[in-house]
Order: sequence, then structure tokens, then C-alpha cells
Amino acid sequence: MMADLFDTLTSGPGEAVALAPGAWLRPGFAGGEVPSLLAAVLAVAEAAPFRHLVTPGGATMSVAMTNCGSLGWISDRRGYRYEQVDPLTSRRWPAMPERFLQLARRAADASGFPGFAPDACLINRYGPGSKLSLHQDRDELDLDAPIVSVSLGLPAVFMFGGQARGACASRHRLQSGDVVVWGGVSRLAFHGIAPLAAGAHGLTGEFRYNLTFRKVMSEPGAGAGAQR
Ligand code: SIN
Ligand code: FE2
Repeated sequence: MMADLFDTLTSGPGEAVALAPGAWLRPGFAGGEVPSLLAAVLAVAEAAPFRHLVTPGGATMSVAMTNCGSLGWISDRRGYRYEQVDPLTSRRWPAMPERFLQLARRAADASGFPGFAPDACLINRYGPGSKLSLHQDRDELDLDAPIVSVSLGLPAVFMFGGQARGACASRHRLQSGDVVVWGGVSRLAFHGIAPLAAGAHGLTGEFRYNLTFRKVMSEPGAGAGAQR
């Protein structure tokens, strides 16, 4: 736990921290936009409510999720996948707000992945004790594009490991407004979130929200029938 704080502090505020080749933590990259990003999250959640998905193994996830964009990530007893329609509402996922697209693109550009055009944004909501075990984001067809992750609200400990689940993961404290980008040789790196410590944030109360931007379809325009 201390090592992650040390890494961030020694790099100075606002300077990017290299987590691995192709993987960057950008402290405060979205700092000034946090209130407007949170307002957009709540608007998405009005149309597509947060819900606790069930894993293929039958466990209920502690993190509540929703999506925006032409595709949304879901899990149920049949597996993990992207869907154009929200199974909860039977409607398409809400469109990705323009400010989300712009931020994701700016963060990717700054990290050496120009022209990022995400077609999916998974929105996670962590309450006290919610966690995300080490996993890979590998349900996307386009593995050339990076993942861009934006932290909002309460701080969390981000675990960033290697290409194998067993590899030792480094730990990094993520604050509201921090952005992490991973792609290239780190695109399939294992990562996760340690159980969220209880707290009270001025804008999000007991919650941490996280946006992860993904490019699912390889073709421009989000491919096969997907539309905004
Ligand atoms: C994720 O791995 O999808 C989310 C990571 C995070 O919440 O920071
Ligand atoms: Fe992930």
C-alpha cells in the first residue's frame, strides 16, 4: 500500500507515472471535469440503472454497473459479452456523452495511442467493500486500442499486474480525477480494485465511480448494426 503512494508522490502532481510499458497513471488528468462527468454518470444511470451483475459462475458482483455507448458490457450465467441492448430495460444503452469521448481521446493521445474512438463505456459504482478481483479486459475484438479508465469520487487502490494472473501486481492509489491508460504490450495486463475503504466524498458520498472506455469493434463506426 505504501509503495503506490510513494510512486505517485515522487513523480510530482500531474506528472504521468509509468506503470509498465504502454501503461500510464495520469494524476488529476480529469480533475477539473469531475463534477460534469459525475452529472453525466447520473444522467446515464437514470436511463440505464446501476445493477449488480451475476458472473457465469453464479456469484453476484459487489460492484454495480451500467454502460453508455453503442455497446455495453454485461455478465450473466451465459458469460461475459457486449450487448447493444440493456437487458434490464430492453432499450439501447444511452449514447456516450460527447465530453466522455473527448476526455478518453485526450487521455489516449497523451499516452501514445492517438485517435482512440471508444464505442463502449462501462461505468462501475463501488460502495464500501466493493472490489474487482484481478482480471483482464479481453472481451473486446479490437485489442490494438487501449483501455482508458477515469476515477471519480472516493479513492481506491488499483492493482496492476503482468500478463499472468499469478504475476505480482503493483498497487497505486487512484484519486478522483485520475486517469489510467493501458494498451500496446500492456493491453491484456491483469488489473483490479482492492476492497473500497468506507469514506465520505463531497460529490459522491460513500461511492467511487469509474469509467472504462473500450473499443470493442475493430471497424470504424462500431461495426455490425451498432448505432448510437
Ligand atoms: C475495470 O477494471 O473495469 C475498472 C477498474 C477501476 O474501477 O478502476
Ligand atoms: Fe477491467
